[in-house]
Amino acid sequence: MSRPAKVVINLSALRHNFSRIRTIAPDSRVMAIVKADAYGHGLVRIAQSLEQADAFGVACLEEARELRQAKIQQRIILLEGPYSGEELTKISQLGLDMVVHDLSQVEMLEQNQLNKPVCIWLKLDTGMHRLGFSPDLASEALARLEQSAGVKEIRLMTHLASANNREDPMTRKQLQCFSQFNENMSLEKTIANSAGILAFPDAHVDWVRPGIMLYGVSPFSDSNGSQEGLKPVMTLQSKLITVRALKAGDPVGYGATWRCPEDMSVGVVAAGYGDGYPRHAESGTPVLVNGKRVELIGRASMDMLTVDLRSQSQAKTGDPVVLWGEGLPVEEVANHAGTIPYEVLCAVHKRLKFEYGEA
Ligand SMILES: Cc1ncc(COP(=O)(O)O)c(C=O)c1O
Repeated sequence: MSRPAKVVINLSALRHNFSRIRTIAPDSRVMAIVKADAYGHGLVRIAQSLEQADAFGVACLEEARELRQAKIQQRIILLEGPYSGEELTKISQLGLDMVVHDLSQVEMLEQNQLNKPVCIWLKLDTGMHRLGFSPDLASEALARLEQSAGVKEIRLMTHLASANNREDPMTRKQLQCFSQFNENMSLEKTIANSAGILAFPDAHVDWVRPGIMLYGVSPFSDSNGSQEGLKPVMTLQSKLITVRALKAGDPVGYGATWRCPEDMSVGVVAAGYGDGYPRHAESGTPVLVNGKRVELIGRASMDMLTVDLRSQSQAKTGDPVVLWGEGLPVEEVANHAGTIPYEVLCAVHKRLKFEYGEA
């Protein structure tokens, strides 16, 4: 038997989530966010399975090139724009769109002669203060872009900082700032990430930009994907590779951080932080053994972790284990590890086998 840890990707769940986005935002086109290897799910396979997407959002030229090499025809947007003038030529050759968030990128467009002009998504900073032009500078950037021979079309975008907290007044302020800026403009616009799509219908506008919800995961801390009508796309599976009968007081794992409170059986699962399982997951983090919940005990190590089998006296070597996904929301695991599901999904290690199917 080869190492049993594997990632199972459910492509019909992905399509379900995509159609849920279409239902929620029926008048918007969808830019599916597939950066960071499609949040750990596999860039090309995910993009190939999203034939319905109107565009894909990526972080860098390398990701965009991989998609073009796989014959992905849709619009592809570099969400951080070019990092240098040399990249600009390649962006034009590959027929990519790019975000412009900084005057240095406007200068690149002015100074480089392109055979094919490119489509621009001008980014306005409406309060997040990460990327984008303040409204004053955005007017100047827009005027210069409109004059630039390298520019084919211009769209407007902004990014929401706190839409995952429905009550936070910041989103309203950002929406106001954005609409004030483009009041008399007929340019296409995009605002909403997953939280914006789910919680702020007036942020849908021309294009929506879902990431995490495509993968079946809630952007909110007070719900999970299925409560938002989504299905998990990724399941991390493995097996018990041994079952130990331990005595009361026996320590388990590195640092002996957990001791058996009584004579009990402990299962060892072939999955650990070397696979992307979060090392900071605390004792008590749920794990499914034979489809039933048990608890992680002790520290996860590189290739293995240990579970409390007191509720499963029949469990034996070879029994199936789910670390997250189908039947066990990754949101819960992330919570127990003091992180967010985005990080857990992105950290899944490429040494794992990936199986793509239509479960
Ligand atoms: C510019 C931009 N738009 C959309 C998204 C998608 O966000 P989410 O995964 O929360 O839907 C991201 C992700 O970080 C992003 O950077």
